[in-house]
Amino acid sequence: MKCGITAAETRKSGKEGEGRKGATNTNMGKVVSGVATSEDVSAWYMDEEHSVDQRQPHKTDPVQSVDAATLEALGVVHWKLSGNEDDAELEQIRKDRGYSYKDVITVSPDTLPAYEQKIKMFYEEHLHSDEEIRYLLEGSGYFDVRDKQDRWIRIACPKGTMIILPEGIYHRFTLDHTNYAKAMRLFIGEPVWTPLNRPQESHESRVKYLTTFGAAA
Ligand SMILES: [Fe+2]
Repeated sequence: MKCGITAAETRKSGKEGEGRKGATNTNMGKVVSGVATSEDVSAWYMDEEHSVDQRQPHKTDPVQSVDAATLEALGVVHWKLSGNEDDAELEQIRKDRGYSYKDVITVSPDTLPAYEQKIKMFYEEHLHSDEEIRYLLEGSGYFDVRDKQDRWIRIACPKGTMIILPEGIYHRFTLDHTNYAKAMRLFIGEPVWTPLNRPQESHESRVKYLTTFGAAA
């Protein structure tokens, strides 16, 4: 089973570098240049309207916005790029962070059999033993992450969004009302997409995350 934005349609577009399988990203929690400012980030605390479709914004009334600093404190790194595959800043990020693997996937009712079931699966709360790195080329979606009080923060990811979720953070993904997302997936070495559904409190990646970011979830 694969996670998040998953390979309904996968096109490998290059794998550079070798021998990094299982490598640990030493940039965990490090704020790098080019991180979005608060004006660039569109994120908010979610409502608890579970009866409403996951693809709706789920904003509270009034809206409780979340700024970039709050996301950075959770280890979430976020850029606004062009949305082009050959974006120069993207290439610099790949170089800086050692993202040797990339592919491009498309998630939509046309490309994903049993679409409605699959997007519910993506929406199950989980973590990974590596970063989750996505670059939105077309369409849009939402990543939801848990904050230090275990509240859900929803992060809007339109075209051009480059987002990195740290190893061990609880999160989930959903398409939005457009039901279309084309995204680049990046990884260090051979990719591992396995989701580890909550609870994973004793998993070493969760322990590492809590140690690094001090989350009180
Ligand atoms: Fe994930």
